[in-house]
Amino acid sequence: VQSELPLLMKPRSLEALAHDAKDCRNCDLWKTGTQTVFGEGGAHARVVFVGEQPGDKEDLEGRPFVGPAGNLLNTALEQAGINRNEVYVTNAVKHFKWEPRGKRRLHKKPNAAEVAACRSWMDGEIAAIQPEIIVCLGATAAQAMLGRSFRVTKQRGEFLPGPNGASVLATVHPSSILRAPDEDARHEEMRLFVDDLRKVAARMN
Ligand code: URA
Repeated sequence: VQSELPLLMKPRSLEALAHDAKDCRNCDLWKTGTQTVFGEGGAHARVVFVGEQPGDKEDLEGRPFVGPAGNLLNTALEQAGINRNEVYVTNAVKHFKWEPRGKRRLHKKPNAAEVAACRSWMDGEIAAIQPEIIVCLGATAAQAMLGRSFRVTKQRGEFLPGPNGASVLATVHPSSILRAPDEDARHEEMRLFVDDLRKVAARMN
């Protein structure tokens, strides 16, 4: 049992990780982000969803996936029969990276060094939760989890071996569905996304 493990082998608790992540200076993104946006959800969740980084709304609220991409994720989860309250949701990078565009803060993709600098938080979350399934939303999360040669376009929707004995499934990022060129394309992208999430739901039952 866990309490008999030597102290060094014990995973740190989510509370301790979240507390320490508030003051993270492992890269420079803390200077532009309003606050660290740590993961959220049950400490014993069977499924962990990993996104890229908080967006504008997440940065202001301090919670992951509460903006437009989060709304789309909620809709897709519901259609797949997954209860968001039963999963843990986090990001590969925990500060919002952006550049000014007029009055707006435009999302900027985190680079490999920033993903690497943030990695220990994500690893800590996985070690603490020990989920059965990890769902990577988009290439940034998938490459952080499975290596930089991983291609979502080639291995989307497949269960692959991941950390701590978990199975990892990578799919698209919900934002990419929001960016679809027209209504038909968006519909089709959403259908494929929900299909991937249904595979996750089937594994949980
Ligand atoms: N996009 C992400 O990848 N994560 C969020 O939390 C919000 C938008």
